[in-house]
Amino acid sequence: MKKELIELRVNGRSHEIAIEPSKLLLDALRQDLDLTGSKRGCDDSSCGACTVQVDGTPMLSCTMLAASCEGQEITTVEGVSEHGSLAAIQKAYGDWGGSQCGYCTPGFMMTVRHLLSQNPNPTEAEIRGGLSSNLCRCTGYSQMYQAIKAAIDAEQKGMAASR
Ligand code: FES
Ligand code: FES
Repeated sequence: MKKELIELRVNGRSHEIAIEPSKLLLDALRQDLDLTGSKRGCDDSSCGACTVQVDGTPMLSCTMLAASCEGQEITTVEGVSEHGSLAAIQKAYGDWGGSQCGYCTPGFMMTVRHLLSQNPNPTEAEIRGGLSSNLCRCTGYSQMYQAIKAAIDAEQKGMAASR
């Protein structure tokens, strides 16, 4: 199939790539931009491992055409760290064992990031509801919820200290 030149903006940088019009965003990120954090964990849009943010909204990159994302700001797990340091949620995942095999983690990170941007102090029920689009097959979820609560505490302490 004939390739077309498109421009994708990912993690604050613009990239011009030649791809087939039918190429999925997940495949363009992984194959053309070498951003392999986002994962394919299913073939029926049910696992959330491929979640990225498109203009701030969590989206399944396995269901979107890359070409349809031109002009939008895409954020992947590679863009979550802040000024070269781990973001609070990344650090808390490490501290609390929020990942085991880690396959689901990039997708969860993107969904958590959006949840906390909309609701900086969610209840446990709101966290559970907000993450219901992502599946983890290893952790049993409780360490993940602990990590998210620890990240919320760290963010709030950081905000209090900067006042
Ligand atoms: S790979 Fe499972 S929802 Fe996208
Ligand atoms: S840590 Fe293995 S699938 Fe979630």
